[in-house]
Formats: sequence, structure tokens, C-alpha cells
Amino acid sequence: MGKMNQELWTAVDEDLIEYLLPADDVLDGVLRECEAAGLPAIGVSACQGKLLQFLVRMLGARRVLELGTLGGYSTIWMGRALPADGRLITLEVDPQHAAVAEVNIARVGLSERVDVLVGPALETLPRLADGELFDFVFIDADKINTGAYFDWAVKLSRPGSVIVVDNVVRKGAIIQADSDDANVQGMRRFLEQIKSDTRVDATAIQTVGTKGHDGFVIARVVSEHS
Ligand code: SAH
Ligand code: DHB
Ligand code: MG
Repeated sequence: MGKMNQELWTAVDEDLIEYLLPADDVLDGVLRECEAAGLPAIGVSACQGKLLQFLVRMLGARRVLELGTLGGYSTIWMGRALPADGRLITLEVDPQHAAVAEVNIARVGLSERVDVLVGPALETLPRLADGELFDFVFIDADKINTGAYFDWAVKLSRPGSVIVVDNVVRKGAIIQADSDDANVQGMRRFLEQIKSDTRVDATAIQTVGTKGHDGFVIARVVSEHS
């Protein structure tokens, strides 16, 4: 997609942020720490972070699970919506990313409520099986295993829980059946899987803005399951 479109999306996003999102020194500081530590700027946009925060608030979520922490930017948006007795568990494979996130989470005063579990999500997820179920899950780790992550997310949820999956559109590449991009194929497998998953009801929204053209799947767990 052309540069002109990206420039327009970015300009509109920046304008919307100006109108709708109060200046936030804390979150700006988090992004500066991420950049200083050399982390890629692949986190959610500010408006998307606030959407995640709204969802946590609207659901009255007490237990939140995140896959893919990076420097903790989306974590902090969601974590700030937790009630005093709420808990957010976030899974991160890269110890360096996790270390940056820990510093950021501590600086914003959320260490008591947020736990960063380091390791491949497929290895840390089974550890959560004995714990309390989650009200909200944000899946944003590697894209290849999204189907498996979604299956875990449903298992660790209750009826009424909501699961958001990031990066399902990938600049529109998702419609390319013959794509040689493993991330795109991972997301295609996930969509194929959710198509016949009777445990959830789902929709998707395409997004444009500072982070380009992408999209979320938003799923609601509908039925009892084992
Ligand atoms: N949610 C973050 C962005 C996450 S970027 C935000 O919006 O601010 C994706 C992250 O997933 C990266 O930090 C990457 O290291 C992590 N990741 C990749 N593979 C993973 C795996 N197998 N298990 C857990 N995390 C993984
Ligand atoms: C990538 C990962 C993300 O979670 C994202 O939102 C954008 C890009 C990536 O790995 O390139
Ligand atoms: Mg993402």
C-alpha cells in the first residue's frame, strides 16, 4: 500500500490522539524506555491501547492474560484498568524484552498486579491451567502459533470472557492463500480454526493508523466447555 495512505493514516491517528487521549507522561516514558532499550516499535498504537483498556473496564475484568509483552506498553494500558484485587499475567519469550517490561511495570506502580512469565508461551500456558480463569485475553505473541494460543485462551476462559487477537490482517496479506510468509499462514490457520470453533462467537475489525493496516479478531466465549 502506498506511502500516501500511510501518511494519511498516521496524520489522522495523531489528530485523534490529540482530541481523545490526554497527554500521558507515564506512557510516553514507557515508549522512550522501549526505544532506548532497542526494542522494535511493534506494540499497539495509543488508540488501540486505550481500546484494550476500555474492554478490560467494560468487562469489569479482574483476571487478564496477555501473550507477547514486549516492553509492557499494552500491558500497562490494560493493567491500569484492573481493580485493586485484579491480576494481569503476561507471557514473553525474550528475557531482554521481559526485563524492560519489568522496569516499566515497576515504574508505573503496577508490579503488585502484573506478573511477567518468561519463556515460550506454549511452555508457560500449561502452568496457568490450575489457576483462576481469565476474563480477558490479548494474544499478541508470535503469529505462527496463534491457533494454539487461541485454543489455550478459550480453555483458560469462562463463558462471557473476551479474547482479542492482534495482527490478523497484516497489510491485507491474510487473503493470500499462497503466501510464503509463515506469519500470514499462521493467521490463516487460526481463522480456519475459529471458523468451526463452536465455543466462541467472533468478529473482526480492520485497523489503520500509526501502525499501518492490520486488524483484530474479537471473540467471546459462549458456552461451557471442559
Ligand atoms: N503486546 C505488545 C507487543 C508484543 S510484540 C504491545 O502491544 O505493546 C510480540 C512479542 O511476542 C515480542 O516481545 C516477542 O518477543 C514475543 N514472543 C514471540 N514469540 C513468543 C513466544 N513463543 N512466547 C511468548 N512470547 C513470544
Ligand atoms: C509484529 C508483531 C506485532 O505484534 C505487531 O503488532 C506488529 C508487528 C512483528 O513481529 O513484526
Ligand atoms: Mg501485535
